[in-house]
Order: sequence, then C-alpha cells, then structure tokens
Amino acid sequence: MGEKRFHRVWITGGSSGIGRALARHYARQGAYVLVSGRNVERLEAVARETGGAAYPLDVTDAEAVERTVAAVWEDTGPLDLAVLNAGAAFKRAGRDDTAANLKKHLEVNLLGVAYALDALRPRMRAAGGGTIALVGSLAGYAGLPRTSGYGTSKAALAYYAEALWAELQREKIDLKLISPGFVKTPIIAANEFPMPFMLEADAAARIIARGLAGRAFEVAFPRRLAWPLRLLRALPAGWRVRLFAYGERRMRRR
Ligand SMILES: NC(=O)c1ccc[n+]([C@@H]2O[C@H](COP(=O)([O-])OP(=O)(O)OC[C@H]3O[C@@H](n4cnc5c(N)ncnc54)[C@H](OP(=O)(O)O)[C@@H]3O)[C@@H](O)[C@H]2O)c1
Repeated sequence: MGEKRFHRVWITGGSSGIGRALARHYARQGAYVLVSGRNVERLEAVARETGGAAYPLDVTDAEAVERTVAAVWEDTGPLDLAVLNAGAAFKRAGRDDTAANLKKHLEVNLLGVAYALDALRPRMRAAGGGTIALVGSLAGYAGLPRTSGYGTSKAALAYYAEALWAELQREKIDLKLISPGFVKTPIIAANEFPMPFMLEADAAARIIARGLAGRAFEVAFPRRLAWPLRLLRALPAGWRVRLFAYGERRMRRR
C-alpha cells in the first residue's frame, strides 16, 4: 500500500532545509504545494521548482498570518495538510539564557505556530477537516544546557499540541507533532555541541511524510536518539539536571 496522499499542502519555512525538502517530496507525489517564509527569492525558487506557489510571510506578524491563510484559501481552496515548520534558533555570543533571547524564540517557534493554527482552524473545520503538523524538536524533551531559549520554545510547542489534540479531533482536524533530532540545515550550523545521528534534510522529509500519512500523534526521529531522550525524561528531574550538568562540564573542558 502506498503513502496516504495529500493534495493541497501549505508549508511554512518552505524556503530552506526541512520545509524545502518536504515541499519537494509532496510535489513529487503530485500535490500542489504552497510555501511561506520571509526570503522571497528563495521561496520563489522553491515554488518554481515544485510547480507550486510562494506566499511570503513573517510568522511573527499575526495579522499577516491571517491575511496569508485567507489568501491561500481564496486562491487554492481548502488545504488538506498544513506543516507549521517555520522555526529559528537565535544565538548570542557566549550565553543565550536571557529573557530577550527567550522572547525571540517564543515569538517564532510558539506564537508563530499559534497564529497559523488560529487562522487555519475555522477554515479547516468548515471544510470538513484536515491535517495540521507542528514541527517541534527532540530538544524540547528535556532541559538541555546551552539551549534554554530554543529548547523552552519547543517544549512549550509540544505541550500546546498535546493540550489541543482532543479538541481538534472533535473538529475532524488531525493535529500532529513532529520531533526531529539533528538534521543538516542552516539552523544548526553554528551549534557548538555534539550532534549525533545527523540526518540529511531529504531523509528527514521522507520520515516526516511517512509519519504524517499514519495514525500516530507524534513523529519523533531518529529513534536511536528519541528513545534515550524519552528514558532521560522518565528520570526524576533532580537526577536529570545533575547528569546534564556533568555532561556540560565535560564539554567545557574540551
Ligand atoms: N535542523 C535540525 O536539526 C532541527 C531539529 C529539530 C527541529 N528542527 C525544526 O525544523 C524546522 C525547520 O528548520 P530547518 O532545520 O529546516 O532550518 P532552516 O533551514 O533554517 O529553515 C528554517 C525555515 O524557517 C523559516 N523562518 C524562520 N523564521 C521565520 C519567520 N519569522 N517567519 C517565517 N518563516 C521563518 C526560514 O525562512 P526565511 O528565513 O525565509 O524566513 C526557513 O525556511 C524548525 O522549526 C526547526 O526548529 C530542526
């Protein structure tokens, strides 16, 4: 049996990395793919390549998100899949654990998703349903050192998805959470810590598409990174913070 097919797909953060690889994947399967992001040139290149359409958008602008979703609906009709994938990791030289840094992460990685969900929900409900996938991260599984802003935003996103799942099911909207490990894209280029089991964006897109066609709420990968992190999450928090602090000290000594 083949993968479940989606016909009209909107991908935020479709101008690069995982979003662009997903756009290519769904276009190859015959879907009409709409991509959003801020970089118009890169977006239009993806739209040309995939035979789809570009809708430039900064997801932190709630009104622009509403306007874009309205335009997508007007131009294309109801979407059957929206992948809310736009995300950012902001670095500061040295420490990144300020409130200002956290705010920037929450604005893109949490609120940017929530604005899109608000805009999509009534329209999908009126159209009889659809699938909405939120792109979180395995970094949200536990309070990992050196990523307090990014990790907090992704942990909050996972909570948000879990908290809304039942309500959206009643509206025939299948809400899914995607939790990738390390994928070779620009977002991780500046990371200064070990990144085990790194995947190429195309491989990540294939795993995500397979997961979105299935019934599971969460698509967490690669499994060999997801499972150890799940086990760590099951430990008492006091053990976990000490374990991470030990790992952090060792990394600093390198
Ligand atoms: N790569 C990894 O290891 C990894 C692991 C776990 C989770 N993730 C998540 O996967 C998603 C995709 O990331 P990626 O790895 O593919 O990185 P990427 O290549 O840097 O792509 C990020 C995408 O988000 C868009 N974006 C960023 N800020 C935006 C904004 N304010 N408004 C609209 N679009 C915005 C970017 O487009 P513009 O710059 O054109 O706006 C770009 O298309 C993110 O949510 C990321 O957190 C990645």
